[in-house]
Amino acid sequence: MAHKKMIIAAFVILPCLSMFSYIIYIDVFKRNSSTNFLEATCKQNPPFLVLLVTTTHDQMTVRMAIRKTWGQEQLIHGKRVVTFFLLGTNPTPSTEKDSFLSEELNTYKDIIQKDFMDTYYNLTYKTLMGMEWITHYCPQTHYVMKTDIDMFINTFYLVELLMRKNQTSNLFTGFLKPTDAPIRDKNSKWYISESEFNRDKYPPFCSGTGYVLSVDVAQRIYNISSSIPFFKLEDVYIGLCLEKLNITLQELHEKPVFFPSKPPFSVCTYRNLVTSHRVQPEEMKLYWDALEKSQDEEC
Ligand SMILES: *[C@@H]1O[C@H](CO)[C@@H](O)[C@H](O)[C@H]1NC(C)=O
Ligand SMILES: *[C@@H]1O[C@H](CO)[C@@H](O)[C@H](O)[C@H]1NC(C)=O
Ligand SMILES: *[C@@H]1O[C@H](CO)[C@@H](O)[C@H](O)[C@H]1NC(C)=O
Ligand SMILES: *[C@@H]1O[C@H](CO)[C@@H](O)[C@H](O)[C@H]1NC(C)=O
Ligand SMILES: *[C@@H]1O[C@H](CO)[C@@H](O)[C@H](O)[C@H]1NC(C)=O
Repeated sequence: MAHKKMIIAAFVILPCLSMFSYIIYIDVFKRNSSTNFLEATCKQNPPFLVLLVTTTHDQMTVRMAIRKTWGQEQLIHGKRVVTFFLLGTNPTPSTEKDSFLSEELNTYKDIIQKDFMDTYYNLTYKTLMGMEWITHYCPQTHYVMKTDIDMFINTFYLVELLMRKNQTSNLFTGFLKPTDAPIRDKNSKWYISESEFNRDKYPPFCSGTGYVLSVDVAQRIYNISSSIPFFKLEDVYIGLCLEKLNITLQELHEKPVFFPSKPPFSVCTYRNLVTSHRVQPEEMKLYWDALEKSQDEEC
């Protein structure tokens, strides 16, 4: 009995300790019928592409919009595409909200969750949780995309471009930031002190709004992360991992397709892009429907 209790406790309440030095996973995935379902999903019906979307507890409306639009399970040119949401622990717990979440979890079975405090400066943990999950439970997929909840993703075009590129290993692509420098202005959301990062330039990285990697790279990032000190900007952190792994960023297409901004909507513009930023849930539906309805239209 005591033994049984301990195992359950180990699955539920393990805090994450190492904030400033190296990232060490002492916490575990929250075990849910949902998690077990997710594991089985990848084994039984391996995806071509897994979209990992960072989210927080209060974003149910947007998650619903994504589930009905670009995040729905799809077969694109015969390739399976699935979407999972990445979530930590609610920093402001509320019994009512948590019971909604638990209902959502068991209904949609598409949320991956661990016990770290879900805050902006913990995004790195969230992303690494995704890489860890892919490594352990979904190595069958060919590609992984990490993106955010306020994005519009043209999954059709992405799959098409990945098939055209046909590079199943060593691939890392997105909106390239080859020479960004740390922001030293204390009023900025992205302020980084000298003690957090003392080089003049970040290593090359891709905007966290949406980057795509082959599954081997996800595994290697997860593997190397235990030797890369924690850094709070998740996209830069991934850049630090890539630098250590000697993986070079690549363009997916000769024209820009990953937009960290929001190009004005038109069918032809959105048919030829992969990401658009700051898109409202209602817009996701409008854009998605417009793209679906106009499939035969010439651009
Ligand atoms: C996980 O599942 C258990 C039982 O199925 C449930 O009681 C619990 O609330 C779930 N956890 C979350 C975070 O929803
Ligand atoms: C990140 O998560 C850890 C573990 O839950 C927590 O102790 C820490 O305060 C969080 N950090 C931030 C900046 O929120
Ligand atoms: C994809 O690349 C592999 C080798 O890496 C090659 O054998 C195959 O023919 C290529 N497929 C297409 C459609 O170009
Ligand atoms: C993980 O890293 C260890 C050394 O740190 C290495 O021996 C192993 O091959 C790596 N595994 C993968 C899948 O990269
Ligand atoms: C890094 O990769 C490049 C090719 O992309 C290669 O020329 C170079 O030797 C590699 N460096 C190390 C240290 O492995």
